[in-house]
Amino acid sequence: MRKVAVIGLGHVGTAVAHQIVCTGAADELTLVDVNKDIARAEAIDFQDSLNNMPAYTKIFVNDYEKVGEADVVISAVGNVALTISSGDRFAELEFQSKAIRDVSKHLVDCGFNGKLVVISNPVDAISNLYQQCTGLPRNHVIGTGTLLDSARMHRAVGKVLDLDPRSVSGYNLGEHGASQFTAWSTVRVFDKPIKEFVKENNMDLDKIDEESRVGGFTVGSVKKYTNWGVSAAAVRLMNTILTDAHTTMPVSNYREEYGCYLSYPAMVGADGKLKQEQLDLTDDEKEKLQKSADSIITNTKKVIS
Ligand SMILES: NC(=O)c1ccc[n+]([C@@H]2O[C@H](COP(=O)([O-])OP(=O)(O)OC[C@H]3O[C@@H](n4cnc5c(N)ncnc54)[C@H](O)[C@@H]3O)[C@@H](O)[C@H]2O)c1
Repeated sequence: MRKVAVIGLGHVGTAVAHQIVCTGAADELTLVDVNKDIARAEAIDFQDSLNNMPAYTKIFVNDYEKVGEADVVISAVGNVALTISSGDRFAELEFQSKAIRDVSKHLVDCGFNGKLVVISNPVDAISNLYQQCTGLPRNHVIGTGTLLDSARMHRAVGKVLDLDPRSVSGYNLGEHGASQFTAWSTVRVFDKPIKEFVKENNMDLDKIDEESRVGGFTVGSVKKYTNWGVSAAAVRLMNTILTDAHTTMPVSNYREEYGCYLSYPAMVGADGKLKQEQLDLTDDEKEKLQKSADSIITNTKKVIS
């Protein structure tokens, strides 16, 4: 039995739940929101879709006892308007510091002992806060981090080269936010370093880096939220845990040497983060990563002492 719970049923939580129901990725799905009516309404809407779905999902609603049984809980709690209107994910931190403490208390009270996938922004700071408030092991709390930003970078590279983004590999590292960067030394196309494609294709790597960094706001300035890109990233991370896939992915995980959660590739499986990778970064990339870690810590301290 694969048991999953989604907490926070706004644009993102419902997109996550939708992908889970459409793909039959869980046997039991528990939906929770502080706005109990919205959770109930979404649950009924999903139940109404089941008759025409390829798989059956048993759906529970606003039931923290069921959350306690989950293998994976996905947090999409938040107030996205604060991020979109300010252009800064840290603008959500004050709101989140209360909401995440509230959810964490429920998670502790219901005895949740599974893996926590964090989407809630600012995701690096929130992953840390969840870990501290729930007391779950650090390797069991993982943020989606730059799994989404790396996908944005792959999309932008793929567009220039007229390729499926899945033919591009490599990482955006650091904060899921303004201080992240594309580590070009890790980026490969058809298993060749990206630098072999730059001249011939007139590629502007700085422009692609910027495009992936601001991608959320490019979409958000029109939609007022983003949901499909991040839900695909979160469900992939969830599936990696449920299937014990041992996949290396750029997710937000605690790195002792930086003293915070930030995105750096880690191997993920049933026990959460199984192993942290060690990239051979250039000096410039190492410096950018340190600056990104400093930025996460400084911005967090402004709100949470
Ligand atoms: N990590 C990423 O890549 C990424 C991408 C997009 C959005 N996000 C973040 O995901 C979060 C959700 O985005 P959204 O667009 O769905 O936001 P939203 O404002 O539409 O929905 C948030 C939901 O959380 C619920 N909620 C608030 N406090 C709660 C609590 N204490 N317990 C249970 N539920 C609670 C609200 O009632 C609401 O339904 C935001 O923090 C957003 O910034 C992250």
